[in-house]
Parts: sequence; C-alpha cells; structure tokens
Amino acid sequence: MMTTQVGAGTYTLAPLHADDIPEIVEIERESFAVMWPAGAYRKEIQSNRMAQYLVLRYRPAPGEIVPPLPVRPEQRPFPLSLLPWLHPAVREPDPTGPSVVGYAGLWLMVDEAHITTVAVRRAFRGRGLGKALMLAMLDCARDLGARMVTLEVRKSNAIAIKMYEELGFRQQGVRRRYYTDNGEDALIMWSEELSAPSARQRLDAAKRALRERVRWEHADS
Ligand SMILES: CC(C)(COP(=O)(O)OP(=O)(O)OC[C@H]1O[C@@H](n2cnc3c(N)ncnc32)[C@H](O)[C@@H]1OP(=O)(O)O)[C@@H](O)C(=O)NCCC(=O)NCCS
Repeated sequence: MMTTQVGAGTYTLAPLHADDIPEIVEIERESFAVMWPAGAYRKEIQSNRMAQYLVLRYRPAPGEIVPPLPVRPEQRPFPLSLLPWLHPAVREPDPTGPSVVGYAGLWLMVDEAHITTVAVRRAFRGRGLGKALMLAMLDCARDLGARMVTLEVRKSNAIAIKMYEELGFRQQGVRRRYYTDNGEDALIMWSEELSAPSARQRLDAAKRALRERVRWEHADS
C-alpha cells in the first residue's frame, strides 16, 4: 500500500477491494462512454490471477468536506433484480471519510502487461493523480516480470495520450473502429522496455516531478 498526500488531505493507493466497486462504477460512469458492469470488477478480483487493480482513496483533512459520489445500489441481472433485498448493502457516503478518487488495472500476459483501465474522478483531475496511478501500474508491471506495457486509447483522448507519451509510451499501431459506441479508432501504444536505463530514468524523473506537486509514502499491507 502507498500513501500520497496532496494539499491538506491524504491519498492512499491500495489494492482494489470489493467494497470499492460501487464507487469505481460511479467514476466509470463519469469517465467512459462504454462501462464495465460492476460484476466484471468483482470477477477480476475474485478469479483473474493475472489481473492487478489499484484504487486511490482520498481522506479529507479535518474539517474538509468532499461531496461524495452518488453511489447507487448494484444492478443485478433479471430475475435477481426482482429481489432488492439481495442487493449488497451500499455504504452511506461520508463527506468527511475516505472515498475512492481513481483506479487503474492491468492484465499480465506472459511478459507483457496490458493496461485495462485508468480513470480519475472528474473533480480530482489535473492534480497528478492519473500519472501517479500509471506510475504505480508501471512499477507493478515490472514487479510482475513484464518486459513492456501496452494499452489502447481513443484517438480523440488527447489528455490521456499526452499522459502516456510523457511516461514513455509511443503509438505503434491502430485498431480501426475499435470502440463500439461511435466506431472510433483506438491507438495502440507501447511503453519502452521497462528494464532499459532510459525507461528507468524517465520514470524516476516523472516520480520526482510528481513529488513536487503531490507527496506520498509507500507502506506495505
Ligand atoms: C486520463 C486521466 C486518467 C488523467 O488523469 P488526471 O489525474 O487528470 O491526470 P494528471 O493530472 O496526472 O495529468 C497527467 C498528464 O495528462 C496531461 N493532462 C492532464 N490534464 C490535461 C489537460 N487539461 N490538458 C492537456 N493535458 C492534460 C498532462 O500531460 C499531464 O501531465 P503534467 O500535468 O505532468 O503535464 C483522466 O483525465 C480521466 O480519468 N479521464 C477519463 C478516463 C480516461 O480517458 N482514461 C484513459 C483511458 S485510455
């Protein structure tokens, strides 16, 4: 587990837990045109040993109020939807308590890591949190033995593309009409070889630059 402090509150990076899923679904709702169902995240944690997901939680400073996301009960497929008492309890959001503000995940495929998702709650964007999540994913990929990391990104997603490029990713191909909602192309991006000195230097420099904006500590648990 890694703890990040920005401003007065505290950010914590931790492995995704089932209790985080309702908040993740809400961040996903404000981030992506096509969403994963909540059940997909549950499956990822429970049965995909090749998957690694991290969440970034924010604990407000004393006296600070963070408007919570409107967390909705998980939708169950029919006929379970007829049995509302079977819905898992949704925690009442506490504006002074910790809440999830971002998440990211990867799948390890032999010696390649595929970034499956990364998103930051809209109200928390532009503070370095997306980069912090991606740097954590790259560390995670290297620790798992991945040689390189790949991802797909909408060609119109200039912010994400810029973030990936600053972390050493380069476009290596295109998947035509990859996104089903609007037929948009996906750019296929690849990182450098994670063990290459240039990659290590770039990522260390990115971490140092980020620490000027946000401060964090690492703590295993
Ligand atoms: C992409 C996303 C995760 C970035 O999160 P974030 O916390 O806002 O990102 P950061 O503040 O760490 O910024 C990372 C880099 O993105 C770029 N960036 C961020 N905001 C930007 C903006 N408004 N304009 C241009 N570039 C921007 C910059 O290169 C920035 O690095 P820098 O600040 O060191 O120059 C966030 O915008 C998001 O959740 N988008 C919706 C989901 C999504 O598109 N995910 C990617 C799917 S492939």
